[in-house]
Amino acid sequence: MIEAQAHSNIALIKYWGKRDQTLHLPTNSSLSLTLDALYTRTQLEWRSDLSADHILLNGALAAERQAVKVQRFLNLVREQYGLNGFAWVNSTNNFPTGAGLASSASGFAALALAATAAAGLELSPEELSRLARRGSGSASRSIYGGFAQWNKGQHADGRDSYAVSVMDGGDFPLRLIVVVLESRPKALSSSDGMCHTANTSPLYSGWLNSVEADLRQLRRALAEHDFLSLGQIAEHNALKMHATALASQPAVLYWQPETLAVLQAIWRIRAEGLPCYATIDAGPNVKVLVQPAHTEALRAELRALPGVQDVIVCAPGPAAHLVSA
Ligand code: PMV
Repeated sequence: MIEAQAHSNIALIKYWGKRDQTLHLPTNSSLSLTLDALYTRTQLEWRSDLSADHILLNGALAAERQAVKVQRFLNLVREQYGLNGFAWVNSTNNFPTGAGLASSASGFAALALAATAAAGLELSPEELSRLARRGSGSASRSIYGGFAQWNKGQHADGRDSYAVSVMDGGDFPLRLIVVVLESRPKALSSSDGMCHTANTSPLYSGWLNSVEADLRQLRRALAEHDFLSLGQIAEHNALKMHATALASQPAVLYWQPETLAVLQAIWRIRAEGLPCYATIDAGPNVKVLVQPAHTEALRAELRALPGVQDVIVCAPGPAAHLVSA
């Protein structure tokens, strides 16, 4: 039996739209930060005595919807690497599942590593990233620690669509505070939300026309260790993604009233002199970028806001790895 651990990641430049829905090929490249505090641990064993995959998620048999996704992924691994037998899988998140905290990213990255390592395969990070992408696009980035860029690629078969490491977490002093407003699974998946946006939003072309420039500028801010530019670009990119979604027909809105209240609090705190920037994924929770020295003051302010259930302070996290028994 093998145990693998992969950490969740939050995109600073978002993946929003697919050019191929089955292969999870994106319409734009994206860039993320892997988080130390949020992770999935997956135990896996390939067995000849099972007549089907046995999938435990957070200590209980996986619900139909999640089990189907995992089985589909395991079928792919069986097919791609010529494996026989079924898998016994026991996967646990140390944070709420499916609530916009990127559990599919850490989950499929851990599963890709566990399923291949348990079969005795040693994949390169690029190969693992390409495989994890088939479970969930953002999982391609959770193979790496620190900052990772998922290049959209050109080929129709997805061979050049995988993530690469951009910078070690330790090279850019940064914290990300997750403001948990809601820990229940979201009503509309990111996958459905992004496809609906791409199909119906008249603003989607504006997203596509500007996102690669955002990525270039963010890369420059990283290289120059420029926190203020990094924060501005990331916040702008996230709000642009949500504006694009809001202009879909019918509208896609992942926010709750508390989401807006937290965003406005961040703008107020920033105007008062503490540099901090928001990013929001396909759910109501807000993630806040801040420099280490200001983390404690900001954490206390955010914790006191109405509707805030929890705040989780994250530093840059490690690459996906095997856990020794
Ligand atoms: O990987 P998915 O299908 O869960 O999509 C992730 C979409 C966003 O979280 C909104 C953006 C991103 O790049 O992670």
